[in-house]
Amino acid sequence: MELEILFIGKTYDDFLVRPQQGVVHSRRDIGLTARLTRHLTLELPVVSANMDSVTEAAMAKRIALEGGIGFIHRAMSIAVQAREVAQVKRSHGFVVEQPLCLPKGTTIREARAFMRQHAITGLLIEETPGSNILAGVLSNRDLPWQEGSEDQAVDAFMTPVEQLHTRAPGISGEEAERILFAHRLEKLPLIDANRRIHGLITKKDLILYRQRPHASTDAKGRLLVGAAIGARGDYLERAAELVGAGADVILIDIAHGHSKVMQQAVESFRKQFGETALICGNVGTAEGACFLKALGVDGIKIGIGPGRGCRTRLETAAGVPQLQAIREAWCAVGETVPLIADGGIKADKDIFLALICGASAVMLGSLLAGTDEAPGTVIEDPATGHKTKIYRGMTAPQAVFQALYDAEEQTDLAEALQTPPEGQQIQVAYKGSVVDLLHRLRGHLQSAVSYAGGRSLAEVRERIVHAPLRFLIPLSEAARRESYER
Ligand code: XMP
Repeated sequence: MELEILFIGKTYDDFLVRPQQGVVHSRRDIGLTARLTRHLTLELPVVSANMDSVTEAAMAKRIALEGGIGFIHRAMSIAVQAREVAQVKRSHGFVVEQPLCLPKGTTIREARAFMRQHAITGLLIEETPGSNILAGVLSNRDLPWQEGSEDQAVDAFMTPVEQLHTRAPGISGEEAERILFAHRLEKLPLIDANRRIHGLITKKDLILYRQRPHASTDAKGRLLVGAAIGARGDYLERAAELVGAGADVILIDIAHGHSKVMQQAVESFRKQFGETALICGNVGTAEGACFLKALGVDGIKIGIGPGRGCRTRLETAAGVPQLQAIREAWCAVGETVPLIADGGIKADKDIFLALICGASAVMLGSLLAGTDEAPGTVIEDPATGHKTKIYRGMTAPQAVFQALYDAEEQTDLAEALQTPPEGQQIQVAYKGSVVDLLHRLRGHLQSAVSYAGGRSLAEVRERIVHAPLRFLIPLSEAARRESYER
């Protein structure tokens, strides 16, 4: 399909959506299911950007619980990134399949550090290192708070296996819930007749699992998580560790995805990892989207230069206005490969525009960066009390230096240092919990669907995406002022 001329040079603030007759009683009933890749769907088509000021395990967990997915950034060593992925996979599925263990004889000091490092509130103690035979459970409240116990072994503080409630693997969620409640337990280890550990069910995970009907989960009920890699150097080794740690989808993310480097990376990835879900980007043109489609990727990330931390357009003049880029890509590949609109989303309404013009999901950076779950600390201005957090493009000098410091070997990052930066660092307003923000996005998206006359996002999108000009109103400068200036 040919790109409609009206889209040339256009982006989000250039259009409004013409309201249609509403058909739903309550906007809250409007479903937002959308595709992320050829085989994965989301109940909230929102993805958190693989940036060091946006997505590590805390963000990825929360956004998956709300129906989206997070992509763990790669500006860290392979081992650390794999650990972040594992942390997401381990939490909130209702069975923790490979619970963390330490052997008897471990000191309280070591156990404390281990629990802090993995952000867990309790752990299983095994008989001997690697034996996987349950000896007891050490939870936060077993840890001594009086001084002088730090070098003692955990053995004296844990609840020994004889006093624990345990069950065989394969127990249902309902049965586990009943036992946890009946005995007022926090944790239920799953073991076989030989006391071999097969899993762990925690009250916290069960409750979260029940309360989050939209959560993005895999077949085993574990949260979905994505992880980013580059296209050079140790990227295949990185991919292997991330897939091993449970990443559900890998993202090859480079600035210029319509390139030979990308082609080689995708071909090598497919040879080694077969059909593992693979999203690639970024591209901003019809040719770029066709190129990635021909390589057989499962999702295409769209966006050259719209990002808030991005200076590519300013420094190089390369770029495509974001709504044009999305539309070009959709006209070129249609629904054969899902498109993820990445960058430039400043207001909630931009998400709906991206989706009805062709994107299946949107990737957010700066919009999520000020939340509690984004890495980094809240900075309070002592004079005004105004609170902010740092947000930075991944090629901003500060991010590159930090990444090189944290990662052992990333050839492409080292190269990035030798080229002038195309990213910058800014401060964004502190926004509190990402959960509230995601609820707001959900609500606004549901309202947008309702104004557009739909019962679900999928239905409205299907109606509009084939002929968006019938539904979009291009704005004059005066109309833009009337719409957005407040
Ligand atoms: P928003 O607008 O949501 O954009 O903050 C997030 C996206 O920006 C891209 N990104 C960069 N682009 N130089 C760039 O040209 C950079 O240093 C940079 N860092 C991030 C990225 O696609 C992200 O998802």
